[in-house]
Amino acid sequence: MTADFDRAALIQAAIDNQKRSYAPYSHFNVSAAALMGSGKMYLGVNVENASYPAGICAERNAIFHAVEEGERKIVAIAIVGGSEYTIRDYCAPCGICRQVMREFCDPREMKIILAKSVTDYKELTLEELLPLSFGPDDLA
Ligand code: THU
Repeated sequence: MTADFDRAALIQAAIDNQKRSYAPYSHFNVSAAALMGSGKMYLGVNVENASYPAGICAERNAIFHAVEEGERKIVAIAIVGGSEYTIRDYCAPCGICRQVMREFCDPREMKIILAKSVTDYKELTLEELLPLSFGPDDLA
């Protein structure tokens, strides 16, 4: 079921939204598009701050936006990023974002798409990027 989604549309949405990234300190602009259980897509960009640790990653902004709207399951997330609004390489999610993803998915199913373009991307499961993870079930 999770394999059946429009990867190109998810990647294109992330690419189109990169322009909204606010990264005046690192000049590294990241954009993420999360496809959620309802079928709806949520976008996020990194938003930095003069007090550096107050900034937040694109992936978490997309996911928190979705959760706030009542979504609880991430099907897939496409990520693009690069300096000065370019996309030159695959942009992998940081460790904190991987852990946040872990809260809202089945790690064996959820797809993380690291894209350079709609045709050039790597697709991994969260389990591949965050093996032996700690999640909600561990507290049950
Ligand atoms: N960043 C993201 O938004 N997502 C990632 O996956 C990696 C890093 C942001 C955080 C910061 O604003 C900038 O990229 C440089 O680390």
